[in-house]
Amino acid sequence: MDPTPLLLEPRLWQTKVVKPSSPNVRGYFGIGAEGMSKSVNLGNLLRSAHAFGASFVFTIGADERAFAMSSNTSRSETHLPVYRWGDVSEMQLPKGCSLVGVEILGESVDLPSFPHPVRAAYVLGPERGELSPELMACCQHFVRIPTAFSLNVATAGAIIMYDRLRSLGRYAPRPITEGAEAELPKPHIQGGPKRRGPQG
Ligand SMILES: C[S@@+](CC[C@H](N)C(=O)[O-])C[C@H]1O[C@@H](n2cnc3c(N)ncnc32)[C@H](O)[C@@H]1O
Repeated sequence: MDPTPLLLEPRLWQTKVVKPSSPNVRGYFGIGAEGMSKSVNLGNLLRSAHAFGASFVFTIGADERAFAMSSNTSRSETHLPVYRWGDVSEMQLPKGCSLVGVEILGESVDLPSFPHPVRAAYVLGPERGELSPELMACCQHFVRIPTAFSLNVATAGAIIMYDRLRSLGRYAPRPITEGAEAELPKPHIQGGPKRRGPQG
């Protein structure tokens, strides 16, 4: 008798590599959170960051207990760097990388209208509370997800990363009509070499 062929089928809960998304997207991004205290949230955020092609993850002033990483079944910390900064003064981002505060503030731009910086680090607030004034002072931009009330921090991070992929990824535009097929994305054409003047 055939030995349980169903066991060979992938199961829904299994971590499965679908298709790397990063080559399709311009620039790079990192994502992190301030004052995180729950391992389930940090684990979730790490897993999503890994899946969406983040280049790095960071924490600022996280509780030691957050590093148990109970939800991070893709063991993301073995695939992407995780920087642990004690406070805002320790934070070191790459040159030219814009810090984007993800927070519900009066001045925040609604996510569907937000132009994502090509080189960005997104920072979320603690499970209870919001981004500290010191961290807000370092942010170049603020963005909010238009929701009736605040989301779980890892959920908010995943939505931000998906929106980045949607807006900077080279995907065919979504058709408006139900059932219509998306046009194939236009092939990328490499520009010719740029000649600079004698000054360089
Ligand atoms: C659970 S929320 C903090 C709780 C919230 N200040 C409250 O008391 O209602 C944790 C973090 O998730 C992010 N967040 C949650 N919902 C958001 C939204 N709609 N737009 C932007 N950020 C959000 C923010 O970074 C926030 O600091």
